[in-house]
This record gives sequence, structure tokens and C-alpha cells, in this order.
Amino acid sequence: MALRIVPGSANLPLAAATAAALGLEATSSELERFPDGEIRPVVGDVRGDDAYVIQPTGPGAGDLLVELLLLLDATRRAGARRITAVVPYLGYARQDRRGRDGEALGVKVALSAIAGAGAGRIVALDPHTTALEAMADVPVEVLSALGVLADALAPALEPGAVVVAPDLGAAKLAERLAARLGLGVAVVRKHRVTHSQVLARELAGDVAGHQAVIVDDMISTGATIEAAVQLLAARGARGTAAVAATHGLLVASAAKRLRGLGVDSIVVTDSLLPATGDDEPNITRRSIAPLLASAIGRLHREEPLADLLAAT
Ligand code: R5P
Repeated sequence: MALRIVPGSANLPLAAATAAALGLEATSSELERFPDGEIRPVVGDVRGDDAYVIQPTGPGAGDLLVELLLLLDATRRAGARRITAVVPYLGYARQDRRGRDGEALGVKVALSAIAGAGAGRIVALDPHTTALEAMADVPVEVLSALGVLADALAPALEPGAVVVAPDLGAAKLAERLAARLGLGVAVVRKHRVTHSQVLARELAGDVAGHQAVIVDDMISTGATIEAAVQLLAARGARGTAAVAATHGLLVASAAKRLRGLGVDSIVVTDSLLPATGDDEPNITRRSIAPLLASAIGRLHREEPLADLLAAT
């Protein structure tokens, strides 16, 4: 059974780099667009193969999710023997519980649709919710880019720097990063006012006189990071040396917002393409292609993935 990388249109450079790291070329695929906005992906020859469809689903979560579903269905109908959806950024993962009556469980809907369209397995990377597998009808491998982020951060950090979670949801991520770097941890208690406005209310931990490094799963509008940087300054941190997040969505002028904060560097991965084509000079995108290639290679050969998985 040959290994095939089937790229979706959301991040072609990542799919190509992942294929190259496996010594392959991505399978040819096309995306037709109807005048009314409907999309029709067409996959190349995958008959009898072990196919890995690579498609992050955001920003533009709706269209990109539908494209992923159509690609999975096309891959199944083209006769692939085994199909894995590799979703480096999983849109709708923030809808993992009902905050109030009348809401949907968006992540469960997305996972059911991905499995229903033909994926026998899903690979995700630092998803917003860690409880994916319990909500999916197929096995889910949750990878972590924390090693990639830690390698990028380490050279700029002083001993005594503090890793800061900008909200309670990021506390585990901060603990894991701090353990890798041998640093202390602080946690912000945040309150979201609107989709692009948050308040950082309290800080658990001491940052006075220390360099701070903020870590989160994603930067969307930048509101969470902005509020955390301001709170850290008010609590006497000696500057925010870096902000690290696996997913740089950077929507709604987030890059501009972050530029005004005086943070030395912002490190994200290439799970997503820059929204406007180019990033700001202080934003670095570290590649996860070697990580994806390693996971895909091992799944293909049916070898253990343990050291690549996110510990919960
Ligand atoms: C939410 O809990 C996430 O972990 C992020 O903190 C959040 O989605 C970031 O969004 P924004 O950049 O818009 O504050």
C-alpha cells in the first residue's frame, strides 16, 4: 500500500514540505470553484493507497471544512484503501461545550462529519480542546508542536524567565513548556467581553523583575495576548520577551495590534498560512512539516507515535 499525501488548498506549502520530508511529492489535486461559491475538489490517483489528506480548517473555517469533507469523500471514491485526515489546525474546536442554552457542540459536528466523509483516523495538532477523541467516532492522534516552539524560544530566554498562560485554558500548555525549558509558571485569569476584547483580571504567580514568555494554543484577534502583556507590565514583569502559539490565525488586524505591544518576538508554526500573504517582521513561523512527516511515516509503517503526542 503506497503512501500518498493529498493536499487541500488551505496550506499547499505545508503539504508539499511534509511530502518532501517523506521523500515524496504531494498527489496532484485540483479545486474548481463554481460562480456561486460552491467548490469541487478533484484528487489524483490514490487507488489502493494509504492516503493522508492535509487540510487545516481555518480561518475561513466553513469553506475549508467543506473542502476537507469533499476531499475525503473524493479520496474514498477514488479507491484509497486507508484514509487519514491530517488537520493541523482544527476549526470549531473552541465550540467544545455549551456555554449557554441553544448552542451547538461545533467540534463534535466537525469531527463526526470528518469521520463520516471517509477518514478512518484523524491527526490534529495542539487543538483547543484536548477531549477530541471522546467526541470522535474514529481514533484521533493529537500531536504537539511544543517542542518546535521550545526550540525557537530557548536561545532568547534568561534563567528565571516565567512562562505565562494568558488564560486558564492554556495553563497545562504553559506547564509543559515551562517543564521543557526549566522555568517557572504564572497564569492569568481572563474574562472575554466580546470576540475581540478581553479583560485580564488576575495573575497567579510572580513575574516582578522577570522576563515573561506567553504561550497559548492560538492567536486569533490578539486580544488575549494584548490583555496579558498589559497585566504583566502592571505586575512588574521585565518585558514580554516572546509570545508563542501553535496556531497564528492573526485575524482582524491582530498583527498590527501585536506590533504595538513591544513584544520582542512572536513565534507561531506554519499550521496556517499568513492571512495577508506576509507576516510582520517580528513574527516567525516555525515549520511543523518534519513533525507531520514523522507522524505520517510512523502511522503508515504502523509504528508507535508516543513521543510525538501531546500529553494531557
Ligand atoms: C481561547 O481560549 C484560546 O485559547 C485563545 O486564547 C483565544 O482563542 C485567542 O483568541 P484572541 O487572540 O482573539 O484573543
